[in-house]
Amino acid sequence: MQYFKELFQKVDNGSVNLETVEQLLSDFNLDVAMFDEYKNETDEYLRIPIYEGNYSVYVMKWPMNGKSTIHEHRNISGVIKVLRGKIQENSFLYDGVLNKLVLKEKLNYSTGSIIIEEVNAIHQVINVSEHEDALTLHVYFPSARNLEGSRLFNVQDKKIGVLNEKASSFNWSQPAFGFSEIIIKSFDYVEEC
Ligand SMILES: [Fe+2]
Repeated sequence: MQYFKELFQKVDNGSVNLETVEQLLSDFNLDVAMFDEYKNETDEYLRIPIYEGNYSVYVMKWPMNGKSTIHEHRNISGVIKVLRGKIQENSFLYDGVLNKLVLKEKLNYSTGSIIIEEVNAIHQVINVSEHEDALTLHVYFPSARNLEGSRLFNVQDKKIGVLNEKASSFNWSQPAFGFSEIIIKSFDYVEEC
C-alpha cells in the first residue's frame, strides 16, 4: 500500500487532468492481492482512503449486488479503474425544467477497465459480478474533500439531496448536516435505454 501512496504523491504536481490520470491508471498493473485483507472482512461497502493531495484517491469495495447512490459530480472529475470484478455504470441526465431524471445508458466493465467520470456527470456504479465482491480504484480531482452542490437522487422515494461542504461522501447514509437541502417528490424517472 505504501508503494501506492508514493506513486500518487510523486505525480501530484497540481496540474492533473483527465488525460494524465487516465494514462497513469492505464499504465500500472496492480497486484490486487494487496487488498485481500478486505476481501472477506465484511459484506459492507467499504471506502479505503489511499492518498489526499491535489486529488483524492480511494479504493472502494462493493459487496455482491452492491450499488452506489445515483450521484452527481458537481465540479469534480474522476477516473475509476476496475481492480476486480464486473461493474455496470448507469448514466443519467437530470432536466430541471421538465423535472425529470432520465436513465440514458448502461455500460459494462471488467477487471482492468477504465471508467471516466466527467464533471457534472450523474451516474451510478453497480457490482454485477456473479460470485464475488468488486474492487475499484477512484481518483477524483480537484480533491473530493468538498462535495458542495453535488446532488444525490433517490428514484424510489423521488427525493433529491443537495450536499454541502460538510458532506463526507456521495451517500444518503451520512449525517443530516452533510445536506444543504432535501427535496421530496421532486422529479419523474424515465428509462431511455
Ligand atoms: Fe461517481
